[in-house]
Amino acid sequence: MSYTANDNRYKNMQYRRCGKSGLQLPAISLGLWQNFGDTDDSTIYRKTLHTAFDNGITHFDLANNYGPPGGEAEINFGKIYKEDFIPYRDEMIISTKAGYYMWPGPYGEWGSKKYLVSSLDQSLKRMGLDYVDIYYHHRPDPNTPLEESMAALDLIVRQGKALYVGISNYPADQSAKAFEILQQLGTPCLIHQPKYSMLERWVEKNNEAVNKNLLQVVDEHGVGCIVFSPLAQGLLTDKYLKGIPADSRVGRKLPNGALTENGLDGNVLNKVAALNNIAQQRNQTMAQMAIAWLLKDTRVTSVLVGASSAAQLLNSINSINNIDFSSEELDAIETILK
Ligand SMILES: NC(=O)c1ccc[n+]([C@@H]2O[C@H](COP(=O)([O-])OP(=O)(O)OC[C@H]3O[C@@H](n4cnc5c(N)ncnc54)[C@H](OP(=O)(O)O)[C@@H]3O)[C@@H](O)[C@H]2O)c1
Repeated sequence: MSYTANDNRYKNMQYRRCGKSGLQLPAISLGLWQNFGDTDDSTIYRKTLHTAFDNGITHFDLANNYGPPGGEAEINFGKIYKEDFIPYRDEMIISTKAGYYMWPGPYGEWGSKKYLVSSLDQSLKRMGLDYVDIYYHHRPDPNTPLEESMAALDLIVRQGKALYVGISNYPADQSAKAFEILQQLGTPCLIHQPKYSMLERWVEKNNEAVNKNLLQVVDEHGVGCIVFSPLAQGLLTDKYLKGIPADSRVGRKLPNGALTENGLDGNVLNKVAALNNIAQQRNQTMAQMAIAWLLKDTRVTSVLVGASSAAQLLNSINSINNIDFSSEELDAIETILK
């Protein structure tokens, strides 16, 4: 059955300017790290993609290694893109990344120009795209000069294979250096993609080398910020408060860094139970409050969620209807998280 996008798709979503760039991103973006691999149901993830786009989510985030197996999320996204989304390409912001292991030998991971250029060529083929909107260096490489990795990003933009570039998982000091190099090259960094949630606060911590935290560094450089794993992979929802549902990320025992039973310690679950009470008082689900709590900071351009169903994604999208917190609520949340 062919897909036609909802005419009202831009009615409710909010858009935020990405740093000082010309690009606006939706407050909620959809990531394809999990739920779009070989073992997932294409009927479900196709519906999730339609629901995203029908509700104003214009930004879809991928990486070379998403699956499982690595590469499969791009292939699966590419199939649906070809069947359903080609007419909407100019309304979509599609990103991919390279940094983690993809193929054997010295050029299959990290940050050399050889790897970054080859990997993007492979990603474009898998997705059936002429270009991506954003290309990221996925993680800092301790052994490649930062100048080389950034020159590769600049080259890729000049070749027309990406419109913008970003970095992910870079600490504040290396981010500041990367932003300066990219600025000098004439390809300003669009965006940083760090992990950030109520349970993962590293972006707020001072980096001694620059005496600033990451949020301050991106803000000062006019770079946007899209935060990943905002629900701590599902931990910041009510789903694990009464056991482990079989169809959950933990229940499905997924590989490659997905949340496992070890992440569900009693101390964290007690905190989530207490946070869930505050969410209920705000007439939100726990997931919605966790997303809203990130969006209260205007330096956060977009919150990058995952979703294993369309219904879940709709629930997350509705978080944008209440992103204001009273100081009493914020204090109560901090007391629980301490
Ligand atoms: N740059 C990087 O290094 C990096 C690393 C990781 C992720 N990312 C990006 O960030 C994206 C999101 O990461 P993530 O999947 O870890 O994010 P997340 O939003 O923290 O977790 C998503 C999971 O939470 C559950 N969930 C989502 N919405 C829910 C809701 N409304 N109510 C109840 N449960 C809900 C689902 O788990 P169940 O399966 O249990 O239903 C879903 O698969 C990735 O797809 C990727 O694009 C980037």
